[in-house]
Amino acid sequence: MKIDLLQMVENGGCSAKIPPRQLEEILKYLPLPEDPNILVDIDTHDDAGVYKVNDELALVLTTDFFPPVCSDPYEFGQIAAANSISDVYAMGGTPVVALNILMFPAARLPMEAYAEILKGGSDMASEAGLRIIGGHTIDDFPPKYGLAVVGYIHPEKIITNAGARPGDSLILTKPIGTGTILAGQRLNMADRKDIDEALRLMKLLNKSGAEVMKKYDIKGATDVTGFGLAGHILKMARASKVSVRINMKKVPLIGNAYKLIDEGCIPGAAFRNLEYAETDTLFAPDLDYNLKMLAYDAQTSGGLIISVPHDLEKKIIAELKDAGLEDSSVIGYVTEPAGKLVHLDN
Ligand code: CO
Ligand code: CO
Ligand code: CO
Repeated sequence: MKIDLLQMVENGGCSAKIPPRQLEEILKYLPLPEDPNILVDIDTHDDAGVYKVNDELALVLTTDFFPPVCSDPYEFGQIAAANSISDVYAMGGTPVVALNILMFPAARLPMEAYAEILKGGSDMASEAGLRIIGGHTIDDFPPKYGLAVVGYIHPEKIITNAGARPGDSLILTKPIGTGTILAGQRLNMADRKDIDEALRLMKLLNKSGAEVMKKYDIKGATDVTGFGLAGHILKMARASKVSVRINMKKVPLIGNAYKLIDEGCIPGAAFRNLEYAETDTLFAPDLDYNLKMLAYDAQTSGGLIISVPHDLEKKIIAELKDAGLEDSSVIGYVTEPAGKLVHLDN
């Protein structure tokens, strides 16, 4: 029997996240513990929490899990793991150990699918040099998978949402459009070539991007996932107390993502993300509607957004390309606070 996990879900990957506005409502009720060793917590909406062990070592802790983004169980395991590990890379950390988190409908799927998901996760973890040392399983439908990851970082070398500085350029390391392409796949509107490219990109670890960031002593970065490119940039602008201008024409897109949006294939998550970001964003009057919706397209295992000193921009782009991130591009820049937090231009 050929297993097709996509048959089981409506919203796969990071588009299954709780809408950002609702999440902020809920988080208001979560008390923030006071402890001088907590270096990063949810206050800045960073990708992971950071806890200082001593002057040389802090732990980066993060978890992510979601329903299937693709048909094949092994590939789903790979993508979910790459996505979970990404939050450690986004902060400049080194992933060390992890636990599996798996919800699996034992009565509705053959056990081999179960094993394949875990195998995909384990192979991706090995690629990252990460050891999976345990986990937890619940019988649940639809299936969900991800990791809880612990990484190491030097307490003074943490890269956060709050580290973007006026004058910096913003670099994006992977093209966007995975949410749109996956929605197009469901509607039989997407090309096989684009689906394969989206799968390849979701399986691509942000490891090489993180290595380049560490080499250049970068202070501000995040990864692009469920809240979309402009949603994550908004969180970065807010935490850094700056404004950001994004030129949507410079944002690399996967294959025919633009055409799919133009044909009306706009995932619901994009509207939810737009609704969240709207009040803090200034849209250029002539902003192309399709590019606007792509700016809020929920990404699964997306690339890094890196805030780099302007004079290093060319050098860093060249290094990212050498490291296999051939679509890396400067997509905008950071300014002093200027009215709205984010300006979306053509
Ligand atoms: Co993240
Ligand atoms: Co995350
Ligand atoms: Co347990």
